[in-house]
Amino acid sequence: MQTVQDLPALRAAIRSWRAQGQTVGLVPTMGNLHAGHYSLLKLARARADRVVASVFVNPTQFGPNEDFERYPRTLVQDQAGLAEHDCDLLFAPEVATMYPFGAEHGVSIRVPQLTDTLEGAHRPGHFDGVATVVCKLFNQVQPDIAVFGQKDFQQLKVIERMVRDLALPLKVVGAPTQRADDGLALSSRNQYLSAEERALAPQIHATLLQMRELVDKGHAWRIVEEAAQSKLERAGFVPDYVALRRAEDLAEPDAGEHTGLVALIAARLGTTRLIDNLQFD
Ligand code: PAJ
Repeated sequence: MQTVQDLPALRAAIRSWRAQGQTVGLVPTMGNLHAGHYSLLKLARARADRVVASVFVNPTQFGPNEDFERYPRTLVQDQAGLAEHDCDLLFAPEVATMYPFGAEHGVSIRVPQLTDTLEGAHRPGHFDGVATVVCKLFNQVQPDIAVFGQKDFQQLKVIERMVRDLALPLKVVGAPTQRADDGLALSSRNQYLSAEERALAPQIHATLLQMRELVDKGHAWRIVEEAAQSKLERAGFVPDYVALRRAEDLAEPDAGEHTGLVALIAARLGTTRLIDNLQFD
């Protein structure tokens, strides 16, 4: 596996594959890779001839009081993991490569509507940073497909919308959430949890399953949201949101709507913020 940091080296590699008629799949990440990330790589490998992973802790998607500085940076370990998981090329750029005019002063992409709610409401500017960096990565790598996890459901929707609205010439592929045996969605942030918090954390997934069950039984979605929220609070979580939404556009469902929904939770346990979701049929 080749590792490149700058654009001329990246473009040279992509050009040589293109010259051989090969297709390219991209898996954007912020590093500190785990089995969730590697599952995206496997999907990309199944759908494209060549697989590129990017590792870039993107400053513009972190708020002023978020964990940008302490976000785990483990490039050597990630490099070994990617090589083991059949990655062809790792793109690990510097901030100056991604933001030649500085992170504060570059062009920014805003995806309206979808980003005013849920994560967007609690993390102002977060999705502008995500959309901007992902658009740059798409322009740099020019992949045929790009794989994103359903774990970050709203992010996946935002990127799908951006690709469609800007007519970007690639296909976005959503990958299922990888979980620990007890249901906790794998995340780089899980390592911040204390032993007690780690023991509580699977209740997020358990609550999502319960929400689905209650909706299936015909309970009104607002009541289901409220019940789930108080259950998490009683267990010691501080939820940012517990929401049932239409999967397609994240709008609030109509009163009688029971299909095509997604339940989404963001909750703090101590200083760690966890997010998860579950799509209903
Ligand atoms: P990061 O949190 O590193 O996640 C990279 C990709 O891995 C995302 O598409 C995310 O949804 C996926 N992922 C994370 N945990 C997963 C799990 N348990 N199962 C399946 N997929 C999982 O998301 C980002 O980085 C950034 O916002 C990024 C898109 C790279 C833009 O900076």
